[in-house]
Amino acid sequence: MSYPKIELDGALVAITGAARGIGLATARAFVAAGARVALGDLDEALVVQAAAEFGDRAMGYALDVTDKDSYARFLDAAVDWHGRPLDVLVNNAGVMPNAPFLEQSDRIDRLTMDVNVYGVIHGMRLALPAMVERGYGHVVNVASLAGKFPLKGLAVYNASKFAVVGLSAATRLEMDGTGVSVSTVLPSAVRTELSSGIDVGILPTVEPEDIAAAVVRTVKTRAAETSVPSYVGVAANAATLLPESLIRLVRRAAHDDAAINRVDDDVRRVYLDRIEKQ
Ligand SMILES: NC(=O)c1ccc[n+]([C@@H]2O[C@H](COP(=O)([O-])OP(=O)(O)OC[C@H]3O[C@@H](n4cnc5c(N)ncnc54)[C@H](O)[C@@H]3O)[C@@H](O)[C@H]2O)c1
Repeated sequence: MSYPKIELDGALVAITGAARGIGLATARAFVAAGARVALGDLDEALVVQAAAEFGDRAMGYALDVTDKDSYARFLDAAVDWHGRPLDVLVNNAGVMPNAPFLEQSDRIDRLTMDVNVYGVIHGMRLALPAMVERGYGHVVNVASLAGKFPLKGLAVYNASKFAVVGLSAATRLEMDGTGVSVSTVLPSAVRTELSSGIDVGILPTVEPEDIAAAVVRTVKTRAAETSVPSYVGVAANAATLLPESLIRLVRRAAHDDAAINRVDDDVRRVYLDRIEKQ
């Protein structure tokens, strides 16, 4: 697959969910690579403050990815601010409620699908037409290892991330020949508020900066899927080929019930309260 080269120096990159965590680390990495970055987030005060760190290299903007009009306003504001079209879109905003499937509320199910799936659908529907018209552009969708590997306590989150993996792969195919690429990044556990209070045991845990570097790398590689660390993607794919009895032994050793039974409720409550208010 060949795509026109994207020169990050002076490029416009838009990142959703960029007030904190992986989104903010990704903004830092793109600014360091010479890009100008539009940071969008539901938390307007925090995203404006976050963008201020980068001076005139960044703008912070209120964004609700579940609302297509809000997403359109964010992208329009980014292009107006930069004065040139969007080069790279990073669909990063996401929520991760954890609870046994039978105990999670309908409202939180809906929120999870709205943010994690419809947020990505809205973003690609809005950004891709102009990219296709120019014959140039790149979209990175931040999914998760949970988009390949089911975990107890994360059923609806799993559903949303499996959806992002399929959505991205199919859209990537449809973009063939247009010069526009769609890549998916699949992080293992990452030290951010989203996973706070869950003891993931032997599951590899990485830093937001590791994911940020992987996202920036896709601008060069245009890889379909990039797992972080890289071996977790291989392991998740291999797991689908092994007998269930064997996988269950591995799962038990790896504490695959962490999102239900290895939770520090006091720490976790802070994050769950935040998404409960969305
Ligand atoms: N942290 C992990 O362990 C981990 C692992 C795999 C994948 N991911 C994925 O990485 C992405 C970023 O996660 P993070 O760990 O940085 O989380 P985070 O909670 O630290 O940051 C997510 C940001 O998204 C924003 N957001 C939530 N809903 C939004 C909406 N409707 N519109 C706009 N912004 C919204 C939040 O305000 C927050 O600032 C998510 O898609 C998540 O599923 C995270």
